Amino acid sequence: MSAPAHHHHHRHLLLLPLPLLMLLFLLPPPASAQPSTSGFTCSPNDTSYSYPCHTYAFYPAGLTTNLTDLSSIGDLFGVSRLMISIPSNISSSLLSSPLYPGQPLFVPLSCSCNSLNSSYAISFSNASRIIQSGDTFYGLSIGPFGNLTTYQSVEVVNPTLVPTNLSIGVQAIFPIFCKCPNSSQLGSGVTLLLSYVFQPSDNLSEVATRFGAQVQAITGVNGANIQPYDTIFIPVSKLPSLAQPTTAAPVPSLKEERKGLVIGLSVGVGVLGVLLIALFAFLLLFRGKRRGKQGFTEVERKMDGEAIRKGGLSEMEVNLMADVSDCLDKYRVFGINELKEATGGFSPGSLIQGSVYKGCIDGEVYAIKKMKWNAYEELKILQKVNHGNLVKLEGFCIDPEEANCYLIYEFVQNGSLYSWLHESRHNEKLSWKTRLRIAIDVANGLQYIHEHTRPQVVHKDIKSSNILLDSNMRAKIANFGLAKSGCNAITMHIVGTQGYIAPEYLADGVVSTRMDVFSFGVVLLELISGKEAIDEEGNVLWASATDVFGTQGSSEDDEDEVGRSKRVRAWMDESLVEDSFPFESVVNVMGLAVACVNKDPSKRPSMVDIVYALCKSDDFVLDVSEDGLSAPPVLAR
Ligand SMILES: *[C@@H]1O[C@H](CO)[C@@H](O)[C@H](O)[C@H]1NC(C)=O
Ligand SMILES: *[C@@H]1O[C@H](CO)[C@@H](O)[C@H](O)[C@H]1NC(C)=O
Ligand SMILES: *[C@@H]1O[C@H](CO)[C@@H](O)[C@H](O)[C@H]1NC(C)=O
Ligand SMILES: *[C@@H]1O[C@H](CO)[C@@H](O)[C@H](O)[C@H]1NC(C)=O
Ligand SMILES: *[C@@H]1O[C@H](CO)[C@@H](O)[C@H](O)[C@H]1NC(C)=O
Ligand SMILES: *[C@@H]1O[C@H](CO)[C@@H](O)[C@H](O)[C@H]1NC(C)=O
Ligand SMILES: *[C@@H]1O[C@H](CO)[C@@H](O)[C@H](O)[C@H]1NC(C)=O
Ligand SMILES: *[C@@H]1O[C@H](CO)[C@@H](O)[C@H](O)[C@H]1NC(C)=O
Ligand SMILES: *[C@@H]1O[C@H](CO)[C@@H](O)[C@H](O)[C@H]1NC(C)=O
Repeated sequence: MSAPAHHHHHRHLLLLPLPLLMLLFLLPPPASAQPSTSGFTCSPNDTSYSYPCHTYAFYPAGLTTNLTDLSSIGDLFGVSRLMISIPSNISSSLLSSPLYPGQPLFVPLSCSCNSLNSSYAISFSNASRIIQSGDTFYGLSIGPFGNLTTYQSVEVVNPTLVPTNLSIGVQAIFPIFCKCPNSSQLGSGVTLLLSYVFQPSDNLSEVATRFGAQVQAITGVNGANIQPYDTIFIPVSKLPSLAQPTTAAPVPSLKEERKGLVIGLSVGVGVLGVLLIALFAFLLLFRGKRRGKQGFTEVERKMDGEAIRKGGLSEMEVNLMADVSDCLDKYRVFGINELKEATGGFSPGSLIQGSVYKGCIDGEVYAIKKMKWNAYEELKILQKVNHGNLVKLEGFCIDPEEANCYLIYEFVQNGSLYSWLHESRHNEKLSWKTRLRIAIDVANGLQYIHEHTRPQVVHKDIKSSNILLDSNMRAKIANFGLAKSGCNAITMHIVGTQGYIAPEYLADGVVSTRMDVFSFGVVLLELISGKEAIDEEGNVLWASATDVFGTQGSSEDDEDEVGRSKRVRAWMDESLVEDSFPFESVVNVMGLAVACVNKDPSKRPSMVDIVYALCKSDDFVLDVSEDGLSAPPVLAR
């Protein structure tokens, strides 16, 4: 016998007649004998072996009910979906689709020869797992890991863990068996030793044919006595190509109620795949140079170019796909018919403003934004942000026929701040307290995107019509359509809204968080004055505000203070005059607004300073303590 001797085989030996047993012990062990129970030994110092190496394990999908899609299998082995889909010849359009039970996959392994003590080294690829309730070394080895490891080997590589008393949450290494070729194998053209679990239904010649190997070569590596569920190594000269179904697997029946959703998803994803090519061409033509490698793991980046070429994808395409496909997991994908039904075929009656429609789907009201192929940036940015003062993206939809893309957001009940300030739609006027609260909400949302996203996000289009008010009149920032991630960039293409655009951006195209501060300052001025950011004659509000308020820090004598107060009182929103609140609070906010609209970006406060200043005001704190508004998180620092 050669390769893998299972622990229970030893028990069978006891049943043999004694003379035969003695004979067995007298025989020299076969040259290639390797105990697979606790791992395949290797010699860390033997330079004729090419450790470490990249190799693959053959892995059938669906070994447990959880392992029916690429991301859960990727998670199990600590690799991304693309690292499996590319060598496995799975179309990128099926990345998020369910797999067929038993669908063949190649999982990439980083194989190394690990010394466990001075005299014992075994070759394996690490799969680390956080122990969950119900996990056992044995159960995981024969279940999810499909016998690509054994519980004995798991015990050997995790000497500090007690197999009978595993604590939930501890990390265990599951050694996935692998081997790297030696010099004589490399010399004969063998570049890979694929890890394969021999199945009871397999016969060796059929396995050899399937992978383009020779039976003799397989037995040369593994010995002739191959048992079911043994891990064997198949020597091949190149990664064999797998034939894959071109459609997504049907959804398992136990998840019947989610069927529509997942089918919708796979259809959407399929379409996305096709249209991505168009998007890719577009990006290539109009952007040319840039694109980082975010969303790519280190290993994936190192992955040999050959495997990527095999899939027929350029690295850039793969990057792009990785970014978009990451969004697919997080969001619901809506069907175009669903949206048409919800909006009465995008009827003018359901139009909210611009290209945003209101629609009710499954009893839930959404705001649906219709776009051409420019949704990608917004999608990319929104998937990184999650904050109560930012409008939440719920899902998206792709309509291949019209080449439209739809972003579906939470519906924010009370409409835009613009409509409250400048349109007669609402009978009520906003109180000063409500206005201050809105200012703090917006400042908190901006502070979050400026300080807590990486790379930083600049909204670029802060204005009262992009600030939405919910049923409690709390504010949420909407419309990340122009947002940029990454800072201090220079852009040639000036976008934004007259009256809110920072002068340095208009002049030089300088993009920085300070341009949002400027626009926020203009919103504060709108809140104080009730005037629009730009009037009919094209005069901008921020310029007149600077005149009204005068230059801060100049002669601070009493007379000047009085004059300033008079001017501010005359300038502010008439409806506020009857409101009872400390007038000083308006002057404080006005001072802050004027600082925000400073022509020199370096003299503007940061969003952190602004949140602090808005909250610090004693008047405000008194105000909010009345109705129990919780203090913004920044106060807790
Ligand atoms: C490999 O070499 C190192 C130092 O070169 C030595 O300490 C170690 O014992 C060797 N291991 C084996 C298995 O020969
Ligand atoms: C499978 O999924 C169930 C529920 O989603 C979870 O409780 C269980 O831990 C998962 N099993 C594995 C092996 O991941
Ligand atoms: C090395 O580890 C193996 C496997 O755990 C064990 O069988 C062997 O006794 C150990 N040898 C030494 C010298 O510790
Ligand atoms: C894999 O696990 C072994 C044993 O825990 C460890 O010695 C080795 O450094 C790990 N290798 C990698 C690449 O993480
Ligand atoms: C792994 O091997 C055991 C027998 O050792 C077998 O019962 C089990 O079904 C195998 N698992 C898989 C996924 O083939
Ligand atoms: C199991 O492990 C926990 C924590 O590691 C320990 O407190 C407990 O005594 C252990 N139980 C047994 C039976 O060893
Ligand atoms: C292996 O399978 C093939 C095709 O399924 C069959 O033709 C062949 O006879 C089988 N060989 C053995 C040794 O069972
Ligand atoms: C390489 O591995 C093969 C198969 O295990 C073996 O027959 C051969 O002797 C090895 N060659 C070297 C140089 O170790
Ligand atoms: C990939 O799978 C498709 C569909 O089964 C097949 O037609 C094609 O030949 C495969 N490509 C490669 C490179 O194996």
